[in-house]
Amino acid sequence: MNKDLKKIFTEEQLQKTDAIIEQHKEIKGSLLIVLEKIQDVCGYLPLSLQRYIAGKMMLPPSQVYGVVTFYSYFSTTPKGKNVVKVCTGTACYMKGSGQILKKTREYLGIKEGEVTPDGEYSVEEVLCPGVCGLAPLVIIGEEAFGLVDPDKPEDIFKQYKENFHDRSGSDKN
Ligand code: FES
Repeated sequence: MNKDLKKIFTEEQLQKTDAIIEQHKEIKGSLLIVLEKIQDVCGYLPLSLQRYIAGKMMLPPSQVYGVVTFYSYFSTTPKGKNVVKVCTGTACYMKGSGQILKKTREYLGIKEGEVTPDGEYSVEEVLCPGVCGLAPLVIIGEEAFGLVDPDKPEDIFKQYKENFHDRSGSDKN
């Protein structure tokens, strides 16, 4: 096993990765399903992992890279347990989503592409999911928050923790 991967992923994640590849590598056209399953296990697909998968499946790395970059479902950067998606479609942008994006990252203390140190949150931009009447829109995990105040986007985190996240008992804040 590649030592760079051991620095990023746990032994368990890497064992599961190997098992997924073993199960599928003889099946023609199984790359997409392999990548989906490995992303579920590892959380994301950095280049080093893509190269590893390509080597094990005896595919050119460019083929793996092509699939990962073609489907927006795949991510090459780590994500938090709760992904915060800020819509930056036109309607939301006109109503302050640029400021929401900036203030949300400030509130969480992270930059673009980073995850909070406790692994709870990451922030990304999304294009219009089609509910522009709710602009500006932010989605945390599976929950959508409409008409978010661009001056105080942190308020939705309180709401999210109270309404949804605390019920799972996984948030200690
Ligand atoms: S532009 Fe944000 S929901 Fe449509």
